[in-house]
Amino acid sequence: MEKRAQLYAGKAKSVYETDDHDLLIMLFRDDTSAFDGKKIDQLDRKGMVNNKFNAFIMEKLAAAGIPCHFVKRLSDTESVVKRLDMMPIECVVRNIAAGGLVRRLGVEEGKELNPPTFELFLKNDALGDPMINESYVEAFGWAKSEHLAKAKELTFQVNTVLKKLFLDAGILLVDYKLEFGVFKGEVVLGDEFSPDGCRLWDAETRKKLDKDRFRQGLGNVIEAYEEVGKRLGIDFDN
Ligand code: C5P
Repeated sequence: MEKRAQLYAGKAKSVYETDDHDLLIMLFRDDTSAFDGKKIDQLDRKGMVNNKFNAFIMEKLAAAGIPCHFVKRLSDTESVVKRLDMMPIECVVRNIAAGGLVRRLGVEEGKELNPPTFELFLKNDALGDPMINESYVEAFGWAKSEHLAKAKELTFQVNTVLKKLFLDAGILLVDYKLEFGVFKGEVVLGDEFSPDGCRLWDAETRKKLDKDRFRQGLGNVIEAYEEVGKRLGIDFDN
């Protein structure tokens, strides 16, 4: 496969065209950012760790019947993905209160949420990714209502699969963000699933093992990502 022009560069990943119109190459960089790009840094090994983490999770989700854009890992820091027509929306599920929910509602961090909550955010850096709802998506035409309904259904299916996967490794899946797109008429999971876009706590000690270590300046960010990966059985050396 031939890597061609860069199509897009985000805060932590870049996307390249290939000689196949339907396929793109996603490059995981060592860049990390938080608070809408106000805090940025470079973390050694991050691109490799997140690429391998994402490949492992996407394969688990695909095996559980969830359509994913991930095709295969190409190198330490690159993966081949399907070219989706992305919805400009973030889908967030929370099993335990943390982060934005705690700030917004003043509820206690760590409160179990049963049933889990579902939230939508508009992907818009300039506006700070504001919270939206299903009626906004319809009114502004950000996605077809049947596509949004499917994305929501898949977001909850992901919860069933991943809550168990992490819990079996002694880790709580606190919350996560997913992005979807459309490929040949089908709603497909896009973007990535890594500790950058979810919260993971040690089930015993509740130690934070995700990007909150970077946001809150707790240190050992990539060490924590690797610890999660190793507990899941990911081999970062190959
Ligand atoms: O900040 P908040 O608590 O709303 O985030 C909920 C979840 O979504 C967290 O796991 C966070 O890492 C993820 N998220 C993300 N990208 C964003 C916003 C939130 O990955 N732009």
